[in-house]
Amino acid sequence: MAINVPWVTLRGCDKPMPVIGLGTSSYPPADHATTKAAILEAIKLGYRHFDTAFAYGSERAVGAAIAEALRLGLVASRHELFVTTKLWATFADPGQIVAACKMSLQNLGLEYVDMYLIHLPVRLTEQIRAVPVAAEVVKSLDVEGAWGAMEECKKLGLTRGIGVSNFSSKMIEHLVAIATIPPALNQVEMNTGWQQKQLRDTCEAKGVHVTAYSPLGANNTKWGDARILRSQLLAAIAQAKGRTPAQVGLRWIYEQKVSMVVKSFNGERMKENLGIFDWCLDGGDLEKIRLQIPQRKAVTLASIFGPHPLILELDRELTN
Ligand SMILES: NC(=O)c1ccc[n+]([C@@H]2O[C@H](COP(=O)([O-])OP(=O)(O)OC[C@H]3O[C@@H](n4cnc5c(N)ncnc54)[C@H](OP(=O)(O)O)[C@@H]3O)[C@@H](O)[C@H]2O)c1
Repeated sequence: MAINVPWVTLRGCDKPMPVIGLGTSSYPPADHATTKAAILEAIKLGYRHFDTAFAYGSERAVGAAIAEALRLGLVASRHELFVTTKLWATFADPGQIVAACKMSLQNLGLEYVDMYLIHLPVRLTEQIRAVPVAAEVVKSLDVEGAWGAMEECKKLGLTRGIGVSNFSSKMIEHLVAIATIPPALNQVEMNTGWQQKQLRDTCEAKGVHVTAYSPLGANNTKWGDARILRSQLLAAIAQAKGRTPAQVGLRWIYEQKVSMVVKSFNGERMKENLGIFDWCLDGGDLEKIRLQIPQRKAVTLASIFGPHPLILELDRELTN
């Protein structure tokens, strides 16, 4: 039977969002058929939120899976699903953003997405052909201009909500101060091994919801590792609760009032990751997780673009 996932209300977004979404960025990139089949399986299990991005190359597979799910009657209407996609850095010039959103909608075969995010606080003047990218290609983001264009996407009905990803506390404070439509959420790396307390406090104070990406530490990817899934502390808590370390890690995120996008294309693990809503962690467990797990950020902009001065400066800001 499909599991019912709680939904969270977001400021400035016309629709609530399921607190667990299925991530669709896979490493190495999965082919179209594999991604589509995983999403269909996820819908059968109860996932209603799908996290994609122009940069992941998974928008077409997400769209194809949604069309198939509707055809098969797995969901009664598009409105039952929540689709997030993201503006890639090469389209982050204000004049290109509405067109980039329309391009993502075309890839998805949808009339609107539920959440459109600025993927990164940086702009590139051309597509990445090799890493590191040439230094002159990397530019700082015109936040006012870009956000104005994001607001336009919402006003045109291309998206139900708008937000950001990989923004620091300072960037969130600046954005909230200049926004007419406030950012609904900030999607950032967060897990028991990178707890983001300060950023979460800033976002809460500014009314910006936080969504955790790489909630299990992105095991088996170029940037992540198994330190969460193999944590002795999480394993001990899991054993005492009759759960798995992955479920303890995801439940901890949920108890911080943070939503998450978790990637698994394996049916058993997808189901396991939904099993976090009918039990809770003890106060002592929460305290041990807070104090005893070594903290390290896995995703850096330098690993994506190269060690350019602007990129290193952004990484420093995002790691503080
Ligand atoms: N906004 C951004 O800049 C950004 C950056 C990174 C990621 N994201 C989004 O966040 C999503 C999730 O992050 P992520 O993919 O980096 O990492 P993640 O969800 O923390 O971990 C995914 C890895 O864990 C494995 N896994 C999943 N559930 C498991 C379980 N219960 N037990 C053991 N292994 C399990 C998966 O393998 P199997 O598939 O084999 O189960 C996969 O190798 C992405 O897919 C993407 O949508 C966003």
